[in-house]
Amino acid sequence: MPSIADLNRRNFLKTAGFATVAGATASLTSTAVNAAPSAMPKLANGKYDFDTVYNRVGTNCARWDSAARRYPEGVFKYGMGVASQDFECAPCITDALAERVNHHNWGYMGGTDDLKEEIVKWNGNRNNLDLNPDELTISDGVYPGMIAAMRAFVPAGGKILIITPAYSGFYTMARAANVGTVDSQMVIKNGRYEVDWDDLEAKMTPDVRLLIVCNPQNPTGNVWKSDELHRMGRLALDHNIVVLSDEIHADVVRKGHKLTPFAAIPDQEVVNNSLSFVAISKTFNMAGMKNAYFYSKNPMLLGRVNQYHWADLNTLGVVATVAAYQHGGEWFDQANSYMDENHTFIEGYVRDNMPNVVYTRNEGTYMTFLDFSSTIASIGNEELDNLYGRNTPEENFQDWLVYNSGTYLNPGSNYGAGGEGHMRLNIASSRSVLKEVFDAMASAIKRA
Ligand SMILES: Cc1ncc(COP(=O)(O)O)c(C=O)c1O
Repeated sequence: MPSIADLNRRNFLKTAGFATVAGATASLTSTAVNAAPSAMPKLANGKYDFDTVYNRVGTNCARWDSAARRYPEGVFKYGMGVASQDFECAPCITDALAERVNHHNWGYMGGTDDLKEEIVKWNGNRNNLDLNPDELTISDGVYPGMIAAMRAFVPAGGKILIITPAYSGFYTMARAANVGTVDSQMVIKNGRYEVDWDDLEAKMTPDVRLLIVCNPQNPTGNVWKSDELHRMGRLALDHNIVVLSDEIHADVVRKGHKLTPFAAIPDQEVVNNSLSFVAISKTFNMAGMKNAYFYSKNPMLLGRVNQYHWADLNTLGVVATVAAYQHGGEWFDQANSYMDENHTFIEGYVRDNMPNVVYTRNEGTYMTFLDFSSTIASIGNEELDNLYGRNTPEENFQDWLVYNSGTYLNPGSNYGAGGEGHMRLNIASSRSVLKEVFDAMASAIKRA
């Protein structure tokens, strides 16, 4: 029985050299699509099967295929970067899409009332959040909403403030909106990332117009507590800064932690100074379906963002999203438990087998942010630079890991101040894949 690495490698070699999307799509016929005749079945014990590897290679997916294209020599084996899940999706999504595909007309869609209704229900049931459909704007991603907000609130020469390490996309959005960025780096206290409150306040200068809060925080995995959010929000309000709360990872919270949506902070003034940006795309792995939303309890703030926002929704994306909200709860709860156990597996693996790698306990999201500083130091920055010549030590180390273990991670330098020496790894895979990935990295590091 070949391992997933062999399968992926062989498949990759078959498609190696394809440079275009069309080339990648051509390999679909021989891979995942043929292997998926029906929606994900339940096992006899009532559980969904997240252990069986669902091979995504050859579907032009960003996580596996885009990474493979960067290393045409065939050294790439494991795509552990991009934040998507490797699991087969919830069966209710496949069923709803199949049913809609049986109606053969694809004219303009008429409205999103049913979608709004499901968003309101999900947020009420899961997070005890009281939303009103009038407070919601449907979007085709978190990006378009946040970029619109940056355009609406930040004048020429103005900046957004980011608590870092933070999602690299915030810098991409800032570039798209033509606004500057300022980082406020977190500190690690007792093994947890904490806000450096003095630094955060010092960075709230008059040219800063927005504070970006990411909850749960990508890539550190922090799930912010209500009092932490309140303190961030109060500081922002005192300095005339509007809060944008990115809650795309809202549902992916580990056992023992609880999400507080920013809009649920018990201080209406602070809540009225914020907008929240949410999607169910991380929950159900539907980023390719292009569906998200934002809301505010303050109609004036919402109206200003709406002036700069235009969404182009896709019929299938809406069908899939409504189905997930309506019928996907059980699948997600099982997937979330599985991912929680993946985090626990990694914590134990690093402790027992990778003494030079520092693990910080994750509270939410399916990312983990590992500190490889001592491995990077022992290989040597100069040596890494001579070998790969990229912009940062972390980017060089990204190449080093691919060439020495086949594993592709995201370089910490993408995530702002505090990302030095770190690499981001996506844990949303079958555990056998994670085991292979960590065995490969551990033995490469031992040889270094
Ligand atoms: C914190 C965060 N915000 C936004 C996004 C991207 O959102 P979208 O694909 O809906 O534009 C991601 C994707 O990984 C993310 O992690």
